[in-house]
Amino acid sequence: MTDLVVRRLLVDMEAPIARHWCAGDAFRTALFNALSMSFPFGEQFFIDSVRNGFKELSPEQQERFRAEVQGFVGQEATHRRLHALYNAHLDAHGLVNAWEPRARERMKRIEGQDVRHWLGITAANEHFTAIFADFMLHNADLLGDQDPRLATLWLWHSAEESEHKTTAFDLYQALGGSHAWRITWMRRVTFFFLIDALRQTFNNLRRDGTLWRWSTWKSGFSYLFGQRGLVRLTYGPWREYFRGDFHPRQQDASASVRWLREHSDQFVPVGQAVAA
Ligand SMILES: [Fe+2]
Ligand SMILES: [Fe+2]
Repeated sequence: MTDLVVRRLLVDMEAPIARHWCAGDAFRTALFNALSMSFPFGEQFFIDSVRNGFKELSPEQQERFRAEVQGFVGQEATHRRLHALYNAHLDAHGLVNAWEPRARERMKRIEGQDVRHWLGITAANEHFTAIFADFMLHNADLLGDQDPRLATLWLWHSAEESEHKTTAFDLYQALGGSHAWRITWMRRVTFFFLIDALRQTFNNLRRDGTLWRWSTWKSGFSYLFGQRGLVRLTYGPWREYFRGDFHPRQQDASASVRWLREHSDQFVPVGQAVAA
């Protein structure tokens, strides 16, 4: 079982966000903003999946998972709250969140279906999030230093995603979720996640007026496919999910542990007093 701490991040998300807060880079800013737009709805879906999955467990299994599920829900609830504040600044920039209504509409199709489907979708998304989180933690400099507050928000979120990456997966397994469905959901989630992330990034760039700049495409290519490119470095870890004996624990989480240890002045565990 994983010991999950809920942390209150000591950043001021009320203060405005600069238009190109990420190192003055239009592409990276638009991509991170797109991902942030997906979180309030997406993370609520993950919370609901895990809560409903927990209810289906036997009393003995519930005892095993109780603390972990509470930690998971607390972490995701905190993430979605801070990203909602972040997204309010994006509204003020004139950006429009088209990802959320699309995802909301799509998810209506699984309403009332076996909770293992919900958990299969959540486990696949959590794998995506965990490998992206590990990439972020290893390439923290790519967040730039123009807005340390947002860099901290992304790295804290990444560290906690890495921390709780086994929860939905373990619940799926505990409820007897099959390998075949796990793989099917990963294929579908990958398809929709990539399409949605790209569409929203383009949408953000178009509204920002930077879509057709050479520098935007150059940065996009480098961030995705360059020497330290996101796609290049996460493709291998993504593919591991398809193995029959895969478990998220097999993937290295030391970057998360290190970040949390080295940045303990940036947050307080919930329920503890803030140090003066
Ligand atoms: Fe999260
Ligand atoms: Fe998560």
